[in-house]
Amino acid sequence: MPKPIIIDCDPGHDDAIALLLAFAKPELVKVLAVTIVAGNQTLEKTVLNALKVLSFAGVECEVAAGYDRPLLRTLEIAPEVHGESGLDGPILPEPNFKASIKHGVQTIIDHVRTSKEKVTLVPTGPLTNIGAALLGAPDIKENIERIVLMGGAAREGNWTPAAEFNILVDPEAASVVFQSGIPITMVGLDVTHEAQIMASDVEFLLNSGKKVGVMVGELLEFFGEFHKTMGFAGMPLHDPLAMATVLEPTIVETKHLPVRIETQGQYTTGRTVVDFYGVTGEKPNVDVALAVDRDRFVQMILDAMLSYN
Ligand code: BDR
Ligand code: CA
Repeated sequence: MPKPIIIDCDPGHDDAIALLLAFAKPELVKVLAVTIVAGNQTLEKTVLNALKVLSFAGVECEVAAGYDRPLLRTLEIAPEVHGESGLDGPILPEPNFKASIKHGVQTIIDHVRTSKEKVTLVPTGPLTNIGAALLGAPDIKENIERIVLMGGAAREGNWTPAAEFNILVDPEAASVVFQSGIPITMVGLDVTHEAQIMASDVEFLLNSGKKVGVMVGELLEFFGEFHKTMGFAGMPLHDPLAMATVLEPTIVETKHLPVRIETQGQYTTGRTVVDFYGVTGEKPNVDVALAVDRDRFVQMILDAMLSYN
């Protein structure tokens, strides 16, 4: 029986690939809705990007726009990584369907409340929508199976030395989510930086002769440019790894540890503070991913991208 999931994202190159991965596996997951948040680009752009990618791949699904800014802070975006459109690289046609008129946060609340089975949330952007849903409708916690999120890092950050982008953009929302008591799997930079797809794989996609495969190859070519400047050999597939963890949880190895979010640091705002040695005396609240089977993951991505006709 496929797991019911809601994907909350800010497409974004790697978000787009995470969406395509989910919709390639209907036997494993049933996507109840895709909700959108501002992050990699403004909300208007991230919504359009989600609609374009899904339309291009022939997928129809409820897409709902959520928050256009963090709960308390000014929005920070990442055009250096994702370009002016938020999805630079391939030329994608206009979408063939529209976003729902319902707000993304209400969409999350309604689906979780009415689902017969517990829902897994898969956030791959700042946690604004999820935090707002939990604050506005705390009753939904009971019907959430788990939150498998891309965000954070036990070791180094990527947007500041201490913090990963998704958590840094809305640390207050992240704090609400991490303190919610809901089971959480944190797929952070510790594993996503090890989950790189290489130039030879991108070539393979570009030469596949498959419409979606070629488009993903073009996305990765653009995404690779920024990562070259950061000294990466390949392209870290952050968001797709969170989705892969929902599909096949053993693709990562996790440790159950206490994690708190820094919201007031002078240099460390947005840090996911992971207590490896139990020095805080806090109860473990997060399954922190610390190792990944990269080869299995990359094969999963290639197979999924080429499964589209
Ligand atoms: C995260 O930040 C975004 O740029 C990516 O889409 C990913 O979700 C990585 O830090
Ligand atoms: Ca993202």
